[in-house]
Amino acid sequence: MDWDGLRRELGDWYERVRRDLPWRRTRDPYAIWVSEVMLQQTRVKTVIPYYERFLERFPDVAVLAGADLQAVYKLWEGLGYYSRARHLHAAAGMIMAQMGGRVPSDPQVLRRLPGIGDYIAAAVLSIAFDQPFAVVDGNVKRVLARVFLMETPVNHPPGHARFQTVADRLLDREQPGRHNQALMELGALVCTPKRPLCPQCPWTAHCRALQSGAVPDFPRRVKPR
Ligand code: ADE
Repeated sequence: MDWDGLRRELGDWYERVRRDLPWRRTRDPYAIWVSEVMLQQTRVKTVIPYYERFLERFPDVAVLAGADLQAVYKLWEGLGYYSRARHLHAAAGMIMAQMGGRVPSDPQVLRRLPGIGDYIAAAVLSIAFDQPFAVVDGNVKRVLARVFLMETPVNHPPGHARFQTVADRLLDREQPGRHNQALMELGALVCTPKRPLCPQCPWTAHCRALQSGAVPDFPRRVKPR
């Protein structure tokens, strides 16, 4: 496997097509954290106005920590999954009380905060702090399943570690934030669940699903029971 080629072609493609999104104009760990919490369960288009209002009203950890939870819920109205808002608010309080008021860059400290699991931690650490952590979300799993013809079902938690292993191997350790966003962007814009746009993909020469005519059969899923 030509890992260097994969990384380079993905990075070049991303530089050409990347969308100018509000959270891509900042390196502020707080802003990136807020954006990734919103993006974890909600589409980009929906998130944009919520993200902008949220940062206007709560521009930093201190303001969020000092705000009423009810005010945070109010701004979250319509986004759903309200535990995300509750966790953000609680985490801001912990950062102020125990972590010197800054979003921690230490993975083990970051992971102690409510609402911060593998995905959010890897996204914040790579995008805001240039640390070599690979993100694995639904988009990333679909891309990896197709490129590497992975039989592992994407909707079965025990298989997650396999995707993480491949994502770790693939990660561009020089530019982990750019790489992670590029891989998510590839899944969002090209390697889509239905009607993927394979002719526009930077990885046509590498994609095993494309080469076997099996793109529609991947990713695999276990049947809901
Ligand atoms: N989905 C999750 N994280 C994202 C990001 N940083 N940019 C665009 N879509 C995303």
